[in-house]
Amino acid sequence: MMIGVLGVGHLAASMLAGFRRSGLDPAAFILSPRGKAAALAAHHGFQLAVDNRDLVERSDVVILSVRPTHAPDAVQGLPWREGQVVVSVCAGVLLSRLDVAPARAVRAMPFTASEIASSPTVYFPDIEQARTVLDRLGPSIALASETDFEVATVSAAVYGWAQDLIRNTADWSSARGLDPEIARRLAAMTFVAAGRLIAEKSEPMDRMLEELVTPGGITERGLQVLSARGVPAAWEEACAAVLDKLTRSG
Ligand SMILES: NC(=O)c1ccc[n+]([C@@H]2O[C@H](COP(=O)([O-])OP(=O)(O)OC[C@H]3O[C@@H](n4cnc5c(N)ncnc54)[C@H](OP(=O)(O)O)[C@@H]3O)[C@@H](O)[C@H]2O)c1
Repeated sequence: MMIGVLGVGHLAASMLAGFRRSGLDPAAFILSPRGKAAALAAHHGFQLAVDNRDLVERSDVVILSVRPTHAPDAVQGLPWREGQVVVSVCAGVLLSRLDVAPARAVRAMPFTASEIASSPTVYFPDIEQARTVLDRLGPSIALASETDFEVATVSAAVYGWAQDLIRNTADWSSARGLDPEIARRLAAMTFVAAGRLIAEKSEPMDRMLEELVTPGGITERGLQVLSARGVPAAWEEACAAVLDKLTRSG
């Protein structure tokens, strides 16, 4: 299967690193000739398309990774054909705005953790070629509707907020004398541990937290401060603001 990448910027570079890491042959990828494409092709052996028409003609699956405002124009008038699949990672761009018939379009939301094949990537609709490609970048998660996909896309922002919380925690610790490298590793692995435990167990999250939050203990003390400062209400408001932005840009 030949995989084309239309729009080779930051996210595409992470995805391409993940594909290589997963063992795929760089020669099975063809890149549109802008952004980081020439440098990545020269360095890793990806093929470089002459233009976007050439890219579409030579690809079975095309990953569309241009900025959201550029997406509808970028796919317009290209020689799409039956059996081809376009995987758009463009946040907030509705399927109905991607004129790729007779090819089929899928929306997906990979994170930059694609680079280390650890991106939980939601996608809709569930088309086999898309799943095969996305599974290389971490656990893919098929969704039942485009509305579900929009709600799930909020996680792409949460992923950034989690990194911001990790940075804040590490900075706070190192400002109090902890070795910065240790502070960084500890903060990062704390979030990994919290997430993995919930991901790998099936018991209700409320019960897991009940067991964790000892009355009068340190976790409870911190939660009291956060609650007085508006968490989780502020967090919910932030999620709602992202969903609003995504659905307005549609
Ligand atoms: N960054 C993330 O972590 C992330 C996560 C999830 C989803 N996304 C989505 O991924 C998409 C790309 O984001 P990004 O951060 O990677 O943006 P980016 O770094 O700006 O990359 C976009 C690339 O697309 C190229 N481009 C634009 N129009 C083109 C066209 N018609 N033909 C060929 N190339 C074209 C641009 O080339 P020029 O430089 O020449 O303009 C640029 O290199 C966005 O839609 C975003 O919503 C990003």
